[in-house]
Amino acid sequence: MPKAPRWTAAAPGSLLEAALAARECAHAPFSKFKVGAAIEDESGRVFTGCNIENASYGLTICAERVAVFKAISEAAGRIKRIVVVADTEVLTPPCGACRQILWEFCGDAELTLANLAGTQETMSLKEIFPRPFDASFL
Ligand code: THU
Repeated sequence: MPKAPRWTAAAPGSLLEAALAARECAHAPFSKFKVGAAIEDESGRVFTGCNIENASYGLTICAERVAVFKAISEAAGRIKRIVVVADTEVLTPPCGACRQILWEFCGDAELTLANLAGTQETMSLKEIFPRPFDASFL
């Protein structure tokens, strides 16, 4: 039975709700670690993702990348906000691979990390990915 969420702030509001709902769809039979992500583009369209694991382990894809790839494949506009939710006391940040992908497609978007206990923290992507490699080097 999933834990009932308690939200302390309405800041990212429905985006947080969307990430939470997406988390419920996580396919994480190996790690049991469910993650949900939701991103919003400039026109308010929301795209969600959950982690999807695979018995081969290495083919697992994180919630953040699922959300970004869904957005790109559906012609999203400029991404403005990202919310990532996991059931950890210390807020779960995107992994290194996801930071690179988020930077590529979202740039220095607003990133909110949240947990099921209602704790959340908002930062810019640049704060957790301070010296990115991107197309400006090519
Ligand atoms: N995971 C995510 O989906 N996003 C993160 O930011 C961290 C890790 C997933 C991958 C894997 O299914 C599980 O969490 C444990 O690493």
